Amino acid sequence: MDLGMRGACAVVTGAAGGIGRASALAFSAEGASVVVSDINEQGARETAALITDAGGRAVAQVCDVAKAAEIDALMQRALSEFGRLDFAHNNAGINSPRADEWDQEVFERSLAVNLTSVMLCMKAEAQIMLAAGGGAIVNTASINGLVGNPAQPGYVSSKHGVVGLTRSAALKWARQSIRVNCVCPGVIDTAMVASVVANPQYRAAIEQMTPMGRMGTAEEVAHAVVWLCSPRASFVTGHAMVIDGGATAI
Ligand code: NAI
Repeated sequence: MDLGMRGACAVVTGAAGGIGRASALAFSAEGASVVVSDINEQGARETAALITDAGGRAVAQVCDVAKAAEIDALMQRALSEFGRLDFAHNNAGINSPRADEWDQEVFERSLAVNLTSVMLCMKAEAQIMLAAGGGAIVNTASINGLVGNPAQPGYVSSKHGVVGLTRSAALKWARQSIRVNCVCPGVIDTAMVASVVANPQYRAAIEQMTPMGRMGTAEEVAHAVVWLCSPRASFVTGHAMVIDGGATAI
């Protein structure tokens, strides 16, 4: 299936590894140029190299999404490098399972990196997309954006916020050809959960609570992200797509 992305440009945040790297590679596989960004410069460069080594077009840009000026610089890089910005995957995030998220500082850090950043990214992206006649944005929320967790009020609040922000942005730009959706992954086998699933008991518990009996892969999320951005999803906006092996269907 040709998703109609040849000649387009995508920006992906949090693309040094995991879901962001998979989505950068998936955009490139569909013919888009990619601005690969992360706070982790080496990882971002590695992702960009994976794309260019395979014959695609990509540049790496360091961006701390908690800093508005770096977000603006990131979007400008898309213009200076590729002359356009068609798709954005606002994906960077943190999860600190061992921190006390009832602590105000920890709570506010979750909101800054996981939620406020998405609002700032979308504003910067929309400014460019509106001038060009449209675009598509996908934000990474989580099933923690749909259900609660007593141990993770910061992460859960930030991801609930991403779902609400996605719907609000979808409504704001619905008549201006910018579609905005989010993905809500269940447990995905990336560095974010590595320390937890290294414990065989926790891993078994995660597999047990997932009807499909396994964790998801970053690629399984990336395929959904790229499809949501593509013209194939032209009437889809304000949607929170659950990708969780049935975990929230119970
Ligand atoms: P990951 O840890 O591999 O990727 C997160 C990326 O965000 C890292 O490359 C990290 O360097 C980057 N990052 C962290 N703080 C940043 C900042 N201030 N500025 C820019 N980049 C920053 O983990 P994963 O799983 O790929 O996470 C991607 C997104 O998926 C996150 O938003 C996460 O909350 C979300 N998610 C992950 C799930 C999982 O089970 N792995 C489940 C549901 C959602």
